[in-house]
Amino acid sequence: MQAHADLDKKTFRRFADLIYQEAGIHLAEHKHALVSARLGKRMRALKISDYDAYYDYVHRDDSRTELSALLDAISTNVTYFYREPDHFETLGAVVKQWADSGQRRFRVWCAAASTGEEPYTLALTLAENIPDLRDVKILATDISTSVLEIAGKGEYEAKKLEKIARKRIDRYFSPIAERSGARVYRVKREIRDMVHFAWLNLSTPPFPMKGPLDVIFCRNVMIYFDNEVRQRLVNDMYRLLRPGGYLMVGHAESLSGLASQFKPVRPSVYIKK
Ligand SMILES: C[S@@+](CC[C@H](N)C(=O)[O-])C[C@H]1O[C@@H](n2cnc3c(N)ncnc32)[C@H](O)[C@@H]1O
Repeated sequence: MQAHADLDKKTFRRFADLIYQEAGIHLAEHKHALVSARLGKRMRALKISDYDAYYDYVHRDDSRTELSALLDAISTNVTYFYREPDHFETLGAVVKQWADSGQRRFRVWCAAASTGEEPYTLALTLAENIPDLRDVKILATDISTSVLEIAGKGEYEAKKLEKIARKRIDRYFSPIAERSGARVYRVKREIRDMVHFAWLNLSTPPFPMKGPLDVIFCRNVMIYFDNEVRQRLVNDMYRLLRPGGYLMVGHAESLSGLASQFKPVRPSVYIKK
């Protein structure tokens, strides 16, 4: 049911400009139908029938709550445990080698953590390859407060754990409840304690972390940015990594077209020499 008037070109541009300004997300004209549908959902929830009226509503909301809901509606939060598994194999081998050669301090940044599956997979990988976890920290950030809230709880329905081997589920997750007939698991405290979640906007470097970082996972988010935003982001990730540190981007992403000193180890895996 179409409960609102059409999104005209001018109003689409106003929203696209706002979203670019606030999150660096680039919305080309061919995203018009998608944007119109996703804004429409928010408008129905708020019982606003006109796109310009919704724009004014977002603009007037000094608490930025609706801006946050708007960005949530626009961006895709799809993620799952062990997504693009070869990155975790590479990470496991690399940190094992570092630990074998005496490294004790490990700092990993998961730059678009969404609902938490990626940073918890990182934590499992570190737990399985580093014998002494006392100085191991994962910072997991996202621009969406609603995904961060889910991530912080570390609770997932059984079907979300399908990609995880049974013995890992038994070792790192506790069954905590049945919700609507589905079993719910919580990531065990020893793993949750390795991960710290925080809000961070990737389009506005420099970032406040101290560094130096050993590894950055920045996957499946740069596709939403244009080269200007990507370039600023990549420059700051380079600054924050230590020499010999790794950057992993999504399999559909790369640093091509950007000026950077990162050296490709293979597609989607880069090292700061
Ligand atoms: C498709 S998910 C990727 C999740 C995970 N990295 C993965 O590969 O499975 C993209 C995430 O990027 C976040 N995001 C979009 N724009 C952002 C920005 N400017 N700063 C930080 N996070 C952003 C979204 O909120 C969303 O959770």
